[in-house]
Amino acid sequence: MKPKVFVTRNLPGAALNRLHDICEVDIFENETPPPFEILKARVQDKDGLLALLTDRVDGKLFDAAPKLKVVSNYAVGFDNIDVPEATKRKIPIGHTPSVLTETTADLAFALLMASARRLQEGADLCRTGGFHTWSPSMLLGCDVYGAVLGIVGMGRIGRALARRARGFSMEVIFCGSERTVDTEIEGAARVPFAELIRRSDFVSLHAPLTPATRGLINREVLSAMKPTAVLVNTARGGCIDQEALYTALHDGIIAAAALDVTDPEPLPPTHKLFSLQNCLIVPHLGSGTMATRSQMAHMAVDNLLAGLSGERLPHCVNPEVYGD
Ligand code: GLV
Ligand code: GLV
Repeated sequence: MKPKVFVTRNLPGAALNRLHDICEVDIFENETPPPFEILKARVQDKDGLLALLTDRVDGKLFDAAPKLKVVSNYAVGFDNIDVPEATKRKIPIGHTPSVLTETTADLAFALLMASARRLQEGADLCRTGGFHTWSPSMLLGCDVYGAVLGIVGMGRIGRALARRARGFSMEVIFCGSERTVDTEIEGAARVPFAELIRRSDFVSLHAPLTPATRGLINREVLSAMKPTAVLVNTARGGCIDQEALYTALHDGIIAAAALDVTDPEPLPPTHKLFSLQNCLIVPHLGSGTMATRSQMAHMAVDNLLAGLSGERLPHCVNPEVYGD
């Protein structure tokens, strides 16, 4: 008997083909995520689940899927999963670190540059016939060269961003969780969070969404930033208090923001952040290249297959399930 798996979306590349020989595969073919009730119904008789970051995987879902042996998340982040509940049930959770590091750092740097040089406003001006003649004072931005970049969360992606910033002659400072002990990483100096916020011309978020980072960038933090500062977020929308961000951008407390992630996702088109010229919002494209999304799919399939055959997942977020 082949193990049964549920895959909550079709994935780019050929990785899912590897499942068909080994498993009985049920794929949710829609463009939007399965509603929770459907997800619950479809995992009921399944041995494995390949989920996306848009799928909520929690105790209720595990209760509905008594045979579930493994959950493989098609993402590096896993805040969509109640990991303690999974661990309690000895269900290993897989994710896709490393393969998307450089791709996501590219997007963070693209957002940084786009905000610094006001590309969205410039493109809008051209498209709407507002560009009449070259003007000495039109859409003046700020220099990336020589600016201070503050990286919040010096994991894989934060480090990859620091390497890019060095090539642009930026001064890089960082702060990280207590687990990071190094005082210098990739030529960047570790500073306390408050100092990073106060000194940075660009602040870029690269921390996972946890109770400690939820709403980390709040009114008080935004008020402590430079009025010329730019905030970049390619981590999770929940790391920023969006109400406070709106006020800060509207009132000129900071200069601009560029967001790959929001809370919720998508933001409704009527959301007031879209009314601001100095807020660039893109649709969670961090890992979005063909090569990377295809590699992520292979990694997710590797994790899923390992879990089905009772082997250790190559990339497991809760190795405690193995009792070590
Ligand atoms: C994307 O946001 C991911 O966590 O992979
Ligand atoms: C994610 O891969 C990170 O550690 O930054």
